[in-house]
Amino acid sequence: LTILVLHGPNLNLLGQREPEVYGKQTLDDVNQQLHREAKQLLVTLEVLQSNHEGDLVEAIHSAWNRCHGLLINPGAYTHTSVAIRDAIAGVGIPTVEVHLSNLYRREAFRQHSYIAPVAIGQISGFGADSYRLGLQALAAHLRHSTP
Ligand code: DQA
Repeated sequence: LTILVLHGPNLNLLGQREPEVYGKQTLDDVNQQLHREAKQLLVTLEVLQSNHEGDLVEAIHSAWNRCHGLLINPGAYTHTSVAIRDAIAGVGIPTVEVHLSNLYRREAFRQHSYIAPVAIGQISGFGADSYRLGLQALAAHLRHSTP
């Protein structure tokens, strides 16, 4: 199984950016943790971070016929991007949405996700562990649904 991991805008600043909200781990730390988990789960990861909506849309298109699942933290695009939502719906790749922070104890504008209705599910609030838990959930879903 091949899984595309997408990190959206400002996640390149992890570790420095509002550490009281997003934790002290850097994006490299998160990715290393994900690669360790992937090894255990016997899945292959492709990882990309971008601050540009169109790049994320194109990465989702490029996963078509190549990747079995998508693990995405869309960052602020969660709350704004019909384009990312349509890309996920368009390629039909099983998707898990993850967030470091718990969106539902933050500002009201973070409590709506354009992505959630096209995802299998969402994991929010466990810091870097949200990614690891999301990867486990996605791999389990793919194993159950792929013959
Ligand atoms: C985030 C939550 C978003 O509201 C925010 O814009 C981010 C990070 C999270 O992982 O908690 O950039 O997706």
